[in-house]
Amino acid sequence: MTTETRPATPALDPVELRADFPILDQDVHGRPLVYLDSAATSQKPTPVIRAMDDYYRHDNANVHRGIYQLSERATAAYEGARVKVARLIGVRDAHEIVWTRNATESLNLIAYSWGRHHIGRGDVIVLTEMEHHANLVPWQILAQEKDADLEFIPITDDGVLRQDVFEVLLRLKPKLVAFTHVSNMLGTINPVEEMTRRAHEAGALVVIDGAQAVPHMPVDVKAIGCDFYAFSGHKAMGPTGSGVLWGKRELLEAMPPFLGGGDMIREVHLRRSEWNDIPWKFEAGTPDISAAIGLGAAADYLRDLGMDAIRAHEQELVAYALDVLPREVPGIELYGPSAEQRGGVVSFNMPGVHPHDVAQVLDRFGVAIRAGHHCTMPLHERLDLSATARASFGVFNTTADIDALVAALREVQVLFAS
Ligand SMILES: Cc1ncc(COP(=O)(O)O)c(C=O)c1O
Repeated sequence: MTTETRPATPALDPVELRADFPILDQDVHGRPLVYLDSAATSQKPTPVIRAMDDYYRHDNANVHRGIYQLSERATAAYEGARVKVARLIGVRDAHEIVWTRNATESLNLIAYSWGRHHIGRGDVIVLTEMEHHANLVPWQILAQEKDADLEFIPITDDGVLRQDVFEVLLRLKPKLVAFTHVSNMLGTINPVEEMTRRAHEAGALVVIDGAQAVPHMPVDVKAIGCDFYAFSGHKAMGPTGSGVLWGKRELLEAMPPFLGGGDMIREVHLRRSEWNDIPWKFEAGTPDISAAIGLGAAADYLRDLGMDAIRAHEQELVAYALDVLPREVPGIELYGPSAEQRGGVVSFNMPGVHPHDVAQVLDRFGVAIRAGHHCTMPLHERLDLSATARASFGVFNTTADIDALVAALREVQVLFAS
């Protein structure tokens, strides 16, 4: 492999950053772990692990309830995390941030709470062919229940949304348009500002699935102009069990609760109740306090690194991978657009070898990738694929990790040629 193809030194130093991720300091099958599955879940840096550890060691108590020191500290940390996450995505009013368990729950919350009250028979919901099941199945359930219609923006063979067809679909006057910011399979970064503007002009509300965007690039929901934005904390260096729904205040205030119980009420009588203010109206029961605190620490960590620097680093890695993989691994099939239009995701196939076998052999070399349909079965169907292998990048990955992927893929070829 030639050194000329290596990108210039990035502003972010991935080698130095590796020290922040204790999990990376291990061998797998006798080889140093090469983690290339950040799109499935991110590894957690020490400040996130420490924030949760500190909470349990020093502040553990239920929030919003106790009138004692521990509970006050727990509440301050829990609500403080909301402010940190708001800042990460360009939101001033932290009360527009609703804690959920993950992007899936955030999207379901919109479908159940907003959708059940605004979508009726014959209404049109526009989605895309590249959606993760999390931004598809809740709308299918809603459409079936309400006898509404789902329409889909198709993709080109390069994995880019057909904006010309979107224009035609907007003439149907959809009530809602929901699409992913970044595809978890193709890596495609969609023109979310432009799409939001056009959807609004047609009178639709806009929901964006930001699960693959928030961890990897600057996101400013106010600049995008959308109505709702959902993402998962565990993909953004936060813990599992942490998710976010951002919504415009006036929309959240007008929506009925999703779940009922403690904390989401102001007053309860035997036959009726009054709801709490947002965001607590949507946070019934004891929340995952430590997860929120961990996600707050993750938001600080990401902001300290700089989202522009993270994006630049991952774009360099993707450009490098798209350059070396076809040259060094003859016959490999890559899916998705060019490096400028994609996040840190490369899905591929090795002809004649099932992606699960590819992933299993790679594991023998310490290289962790994902194989399957990546919760995008309709997208795989559209591309006439049953499954793909996927490498995805994080801040600590280097071109050496991609070289390790290439070397292991060559071993796959040797093994399956014999
Ligand atoms: C684009 C996209 N949306 C939604 C999800 C769902 O995330 P979670 O399983 O954390 O709810 C994922 C997870 O892979 C994703 O990649």
